[in-house]
Amino acid sequence: MGEKQWGSRIGFLLATAGAAIGLGNLWKFPYLMGENGGFTFLVVYLIFVLILGLPCMMLEMSLGRYTGRDPIQSYKIVNPKAKIVGIFGVLAPFIILSYYSVIGGWLIKYVVSYVTTFNAPADFGAFIASPTTVIWHFIFMAMVIYVCYKGIGGIEKASKIMLPALFVLLIIIIFRSVSLKGSMEGIKFIFAPKKGFSLASVNAALGQVFYSLSLCMGITITYGSYLSKKENIPKSCAVVAGMDTLLAILAGIAIFPAVFVFGLEPGQGPGLVFVTLPKVFGAMSGGSIFAIAFFILMFFAALTSAIALLEVVVSFAIDSWGWSRNKSVAVMGIAVAVLGIPSALSSGLLADVTILNYSVFDFIGMISDNILLPIGGILMCYFIGWKFDITKLTDEMEQGCPNFKIKKLWIASIKYVAPILLIIVTVSGFVGVYHSITGM
Ligand code: TRP
Repeated sequence: MGEKQWGSRIGFLLATAGAAIGLGNLWKFPYLMGENGGFTFLVVYLIFVLILGLPCMMLEMSLGRYTGRDPIQSYKIVNPKAKIVGIFGVLAPFIILSYYSVIGGWLIKYVVSYVTTFNAPADFGAFIASPTTVIWHFIFMAMVIYVCYKGIGGIEKASKIMLPALFVLLIIIIFRSVSLKGSMEGIKFIFAPKKGFSLASVNAALGQVFYSLSLCMGITITYGSYLSKKENIPKSCAVVAGMDTLLAILAGIAIFPAVFVFGLEPGQGPGLVFVTLPKVFGAMSGGSIFAIAFFILMFFAALTSAIALLEVVVSFAIDSWGWSRNKSVAVMGIAVAVLGIPSALSSGLLADVTILNYSVFDFIGMISDNILLPIGGILMCYFIGWKFDITKLTDEMEQGCPNFKIKKLWIASIKYVAPILLIIVTVSGFVGVYHSITGM
């Protein structure tokens, strides 16, 4: 089966952080913070990282190391009925990757465009409506496939280059952004405590913790299954969650000061990155250089996450179906690439096709993020907390972390705190879908 363990601690930490740090940190978190009461949101977010995110991450990492298997086999070992959680954990990455890769393709297009013409593609709307997006999506998938084909060592190597580079590029952009005259407005937008914090913000924070830490998608189980028994799981999880949160905050400092200086509307998602920011770079002296840095940074963030997503599906085919790595990577990679075609075309040829009032692209994202994820989380806590001898996992964590002092707190979180919070997220996810279907 080839190498089954990480070559180094730093490689493991960077790969796991690379899986967590993704588009969500860069284009969603800063805006959520700005819109939901600034500093207040940050504090609430940090609390949820501590009481929900970290415990779930520790669960997944210790489960992966305990079984040494892919998510489906892991849950089967926990309880034959729990296999369903593992199925969620493999299905969700499969689906998410198909649209993540489409965005990865857009990012490559923007890097190429800035490098060759010093400008963004003239018209974002026209670009994403054109079928060429399928080609960029394939190019991105080819890169993901290449790294996974190289195995754990390949993932480690790629993460060791891309994650540090990502931080460096971000720091460079921060310097440029805050040195602009009038940059304080943007800083205030994100950090100043203000009105705007509501019940909906609590929900947004919960959902974002789960999404940003890449929980319940088999990633941490899969990466944990390659982990040596000597490693300290609680500490590793704290490092990864810390890096993830730090990067999300830094992203806000890099982006919003410049947006405000040039009098543009703050925003999130593709609109922010592909429409607003090119305007910022266009107005800034030396803007195209910073644009190249920025889009490479985004591309790295997307690529390390995409690699993790494919690796889950690949490890599943290796462990559960006994396939070779080469066959798994080829078959699964191509399957995801094909599944992504409708997403890639959803702003163009398929723009009129909607599912329950969503475009194909939004529908896929919505199903996986708002429904599959939190339900998977609830089931995960239920089976581990209530249908399994949870001390097997605390024993697992005590290997490599002999004085695991927060054992009782951790168990309480998995049994009570996390499931309750996740039920709130799921219910509000369904309410959101309902509102959008009925147009209310
Ligand atoms: N955490 C990623 C982000 O912030 C998105 C994501 C969710 C993800 N689940 C994942 C990435 C699983 C890789 C693997 O954008």
